[in-house]
Amino acid sequence: MPDLSTSYMGLKLKSPIIAAASGLTNSLEDIIELEKNGAGAVVLKSLFEEEIVTDMDRDMNKMHSESYLYPETMEFYEDYDVEDTLTNYLKLITECKQQVKIPIIASIHCVTSHNWPYFAKSLEDAGADALELNIAILPDDPQQTSEEVEKIYFEIIKAVQHEVTIPISIKISSYFTNLTATLTRLADTGVKGIVLFNRFYSPDIDIENFDVVSAPKLSLPNEYFLPLRWIAIMSHRIECDLAATTGVHDGATLIKMLLAGASSVQIASTLYKNGFAHINGMLDELKSWMTSKDFSSIDQMKGMLSQSKSIQPAGYLRIQFMKHFAEK
Ligand SMILES: Cc1cc2nc3c(=O)[nH]c(=O)nc-3n(C[C@H](O)[C@H](O)[C@H](O)COP(=O)(O)O)c2cc1C
Repeated sequence: MPDLSTSYMGLKLKSPIIAAASGLTNSLEDIIELEKNGAGAVVLKSLFEEEIVTDMDRDMNKMHSESYLYPETMEFYEDYDVEDTLTNYLKLITECKQQVKIPIIASIHCVTSHNWPYFAKSLEDAGADALELNIAILPDDPQQTSEEVEKIYFEIIKAVQHEVTIPISIKISSYFTNLTATLTRLADTGVKGIVLFNRFYSPDIDIENFDVVSAPKLSLPNEYFLPLRWIAIMSHRIECDLAATTGVHDGATLIKMLLAGASSVQIASTLYKNGFAHINGMLDELKSWMTSKDFSSIDQMKGMLSQSKSIQPAGYLRIQFMKHFAEK
């Protein structure tokens, strides 16, 4: 029987499938079920900066918002006994740590480096095994340079690293000018994992009602090509572990991501569509494939088809359809 365990961010996972941050990782009951169905770890739904700041605005309306920057704000906040977003989040971590064995990765959504270090510390103190920083910045200021935008990522990481000792990963988009350089620099900060790539809310247009509406929330199976390319390109170039997310819907795609060099995959849409039992189905597919190819562990196959190991490394760098591909 092949061994499906893997190591991710220094955590030992019983399987390479992580339940990605979503509405399915927001309650103890669901997390218990995810563990029962084979998940190797769970990333809790992100704690959103906007939600906390709104709570704090409500509860501390006498304080100026600038004061969020200072430790005494947290002291004030800790003394303030209210049922709110942060309190509930910390409670969920504590309950999970009492009732499930798989690692619990807390997730925070940051857009500035100011507020997060203190919240990150609270999550660590509540027992989170690791911390995922969901960093999503949509630059819309034409005066801001790409260096200025990228600097924010590094400031957030540095500020959080200063406060916590648990492993930190970052979950990002692919929207960088030189992704290879940025990922290399991000890995050099000492983060233990990088999750490629987050899939965000997208707007769509309702042509009947002239309205801006939400695009479909769930991914399609063919969306995995982008993370696959970048995991293959980066997995042997950087030290930290990579987790693949977006479009991993079945066992075959899980296998591809591991061959490209991912240590784990993070799935959400396929769980919404197919239920938690689908995790075990995907793991069964992985097991039979490993048996048929004579692999006894994930380590033996991981990264076998990364860009540096593949016999066709240029395949990962090709972006144009050549003339003969375009012919009918
Ligand atoms: C309903 C829903 C809620 C999500 N909430 C979060 C979140 O709180 N934080 C986060 O980092 N990603 C969030 N995601 C993104 C997922 O974690 C995942 O990375 C993304 O959906 C791509 O994986 P998939 O193709 O398996 O869905 C959410 C996705 C969905 C569908």
